[in-house]
Amino acid sequence: MNEEKIKKYHIVTYGCQMNLHESEKMAGILARKGYVATQDKSEADVILFNTCCIRENAENHAFGNIGELKKLKRARPELIIAVGGCMTQEKGKAEIIRQRFPFVDIVFGNLNLEELGDLIEERIHRKKKIVSLREEAQGVTEYDPPLRNSYPNAWVNIMYGCNNFCSYCIVPYVRGRERSRQPEHILEECRALVKEGYREITLLGQNVNSYGSDGATEVRFPELLERVANIEGDFRVRFMTSHPKDFTKELVEVIGRNRKICHLVHLPVQSGSDGILQAMNRRYTAEQYLAKVAMLKEKIPDAELTSDIIVGFPGETEEDFEATVSLVKKVGFASAFTFVYSPRTGTKAAAMPDRVPEAVQKSRIMRLIEVVNALTREKSAKYVGKEAEILCEDFDPKRNLYFGRDEYGRMGYFPAKENMIGKFVTLKIDGANGVSLFGTMVKAR
Ligand code: 5AD
Ligand code: SF4
Repeated sequence: MNEEKIKKYHIVTYGCQMNLHESEKMAGILARKGYVATQDKSEADVILFNTCCIRENAENHAFGNIGELKKLKRARPELIIAVGGCMTQEKGKAEIIRQRFPFVDIVFGNLNLEELGDLIEERIHRKKKIVSLREEAQGVTEYDPPLRNSYPNAWVNIMYGCNNFCSYCIVPYVRGRERSRQPEHILEECRALVKEGYREITLLGQNVNSYGSDGATEVRFPELLERVANIEGDFRVRFMTSHPKDFTKELVEVIGRNRKICHLVHLPVQSGSDGILQAMNRRYTAEQYLAKVAMLKEKIPDAELTSDIIVGFPGETEEDFEATVSLVKKVGFASAFTFVYSPRTGTKAAAMPDRVPEAVQKSRIMRLIEVVNALTREKSAKYVGKEAEILCEDFDPKRNLYFGRDEYGRMGYFPAKENMIGKFVTLKIDGANGVSLFGTMVKAR
């Protein structure tokens, strides 16, 4: 019998939601080529690294993991190792990858992700190593369906790239200028997802509030969001990321009148000091940021906010840092991602003087994390004795509990006899432990 061996792939993803979703697109391409996923690198025919370059540790992590494959490749030369994602789009990085890891077969970028299938074919048939990168983004690519790995949530790109050039950030250099997808394509994708049974849609873009500003469509983000929320079905909608300078009253009004849109806004503040915000090229002051928060809370009193915050930006004094802590307390973020500033070659900030010593950066981030955690704990404690509706995402075998998030992003755990994944579950919250809530099921739909 001429039985063909099933080909397998393994994808390692670094970085953000955008990257996780791009890995789903890569998986879709591989599935159409007849590959199936494996968790075990040693049995994979293709191993893919979807890299991130936003901070140095993300890069180092990927470099370490790629290096570990040298032995496997020596034992199985037919194994195809491909490196893609943001890091390969950085100037000169592809050459560094080629020199440091000569056993890598394919280097490609996020700007030519759709070519992955062809690049693998080419590698199999021509046996030559391939470096294939696109320097400039070429419009918007409409992908064939991704192989989603995140049920009951589905990520949907509404736009690619970023025009903001925050002085610390490499994203505009590796992902190019803003390009918006056509609203019809986005709505078609969302409708299909709701029909398939997805119960949460997260609209993705580096700066969703500037959707359409590239001239691709007349439709602006508030209208797009409302149209998505108006799709018939029992599901909820999130979006990320919003730039505070573009966060508008119109958007808040849309959130306020469509109950399918979660009352949680991810609004990265980065710093609470006006001097640092200016050096970061964020184009708002702490006061203006707080005014946007007040506008949101006035219209939607139960709205929660999450944020991204960088400590140890060049020139950050103790006073600047204290201004950040004070803003964090004033807003009362539900949670926040906190980062130590990481210099990225080619960005404006990388050339700035007055680098903050590592020990100071470390001490500041520890202090900030403590402030953020205290806020989170305080909010969790308020849930106890009340009801919360979560969307059940998965089962935790260690705890023997199902879990999911409420619209404000708070994780709730509960026991159940049947599979509850993909259901909206109302929990009576019996206890809280830092970020997590524990409850018993009241009803589900
Ligand atoms: N150093 C530290 N954090 C960074 N971010 C972006 N660039 C850097 C950098 N060079 C953070 C910002 C952004 C989040 C996605 O990553 O806070 O909002
Ligand atoms: Fe980077 Fe600023 Fe664009 Fe966000 S808005 S991706 S932080 S340049």
